[in-house]
Amino acid sequence: MAKSKSVYFCQNCGTESAKWIGKCPSCGEWNTYVEQVVTKSSKKNQILYESEKQIPQKISEIKSQKEGRISTKIKELDRILGGGLVSGSMILIGGEPGIGKSTLALQVALKLDNLKILYISGEESPQQIKMRAERLNLQNDNCFILSETLLENIFTQTINVNPDLIIIDSIQTLYSDKLESSAGTVSQVRETAASLLKFAKEKNVPVFLIGHITKDGNLAGPKALEHIVDTVLQFEGDHNHMYRILRTTKNRFGSTSELGIFEMGNKGLREVANPSEILITQSEDNLSGTSIASTINGARPLLIEIQALVSSAAYGTPQRSSTGFDNRRLGMLLAVLEKRAGFRLSQKDVFLNIAGGIKVDDPATDLAVIASVLSSNLDLPIDKSVCFAGEVGLTGEIRPVARVDQRISEADKLGFKKIYISKFNLKGLNESKYKIQIIKVSRVEELFRSLFKKN
Ligand code: TYD
Ligand code: MG
Repeated sequence: MAKSKSVYFCQNCGTESAKWIGKCPSCGEWNTYVEQVVTKSSKKNQILYESEKQIPQKISEIKSQKEGRISTKIKELDRILGGGLVSGSMILIGGEPGIGKSTLALQVALKLDNLKILYISGEESPQQIKMRAERLNLQNDNCFILSETLLENIFTQTINVNPDLIIIDSIQTLYSDKLESSAGTVSQVRETAASLLKFAKEKNVPVFLIGHITKDGNLAGPKALEHIVDTVLQFEGDHNHMYRILRTTKNRFGSTSELGIFEMGNKGLREVANPSEILITQSEDNLSGTSIASTINGARPLLIEIQALVSSAAYGTPQRSSTGFDNRRLGMLLAVLEKRAGFRLSQKDVFLNIAGGIKVDDPATDLAVIASVLSSNLDLPIDKSVCFAGEVGLTGEIRPVARVDQRISEADKLGFKKIYISKFNLKGLNESKYKIQIIKVSRVEELFRSLFKKN
């Protein structure tokens, strides 16, 4: 006889608990526990996908397989994945509704006309997908569309079609009738994803999973899936911004600091080949409070604009707020300016913004942050042809940064005239290689004098 009991699942990370708790001990989120009735049927160990029996093998006897990479024909995506799709791997694309996940997946499906693709959608009808394909203006005879949400049927159809790549839009709509809970609950999401993974590994087919991120707790956050899948891609971007940023947060086959930039247009997503150009305001006049940092994201150097606004605090406690940059780090840099260089910023509101909706965690951004704060405080603009790459230490010293030569060459290539780096970054640097003038500074005060006290 089937016995049922109530258990509680965290909708954010999938942790299970016998009773309701307010704060998840595993992920720290509040109010995410939702009751689910689990029916223990007499048939134990229900298996959603039955895989072939495996026996232990000697490692020396396992046939090695060349890590075959399949190009997605979208260069930015290939780079983020670490050089293309790895066969048998599972990739999760997470992002808010409307950000462009389905568009990206369909674009991959239609561009790969040399492979057999099965695009399974539980959200859109085949007609809707066709309309989107027409909008994208792409054709592929090898792309099969299936509107289905029952996992068992998906396996049957997948075995029939025998595709080279499977796309699932979205994991939250899938369900298995062997589980009692409804589609989108943590147990369904976890179990369906795990059996898809087993399938993918066994048949050696890569799988793209699309997952929504919502805060309302009805849909299981893809966080519960992060440890199952091989790669997690995060699709971000402001709805008001035209640009969409795709970044890796986990990658078993590549770096996690890669970042790809796309532009949503009326024919779908377009890769932005030279992101530095879009991240820097193309205005003619020099305004105070902006400076440009030469940063590195994953393998790629990226020049980004830092904007600061320093104004007298209207109320008692000055505000410090930053978008795209760590707030505590901003606080530290302001304290360094106050203590080591004698700038009185403690009575000022300081706002910092990284243009284009980008988030940076490269310490080399420090120098540009300081420069933009000083520039806004003095209301003196910094020339648009100047950029910065250096870390700032607590004593006010400018510290060397990694891969400085790459940062300099990128700035040089984009036509910058001057770059400020740390004096201690000169080891092995061949300055004569570059057209750009390299200015070395060792302390914050030195930077200040060099930037603003020329005449
Ligand atoms: P979509 O891929 O449906 O988002 P998701 O699957 O992440 O929910 O993309 C949705 C948005 O993109 C929608 O607002 C319409 C817009 N869009 C364009 O601007 N141009 C296009 O060519 C396409 C296909 C969509
Ligand atoms: Mg969608």
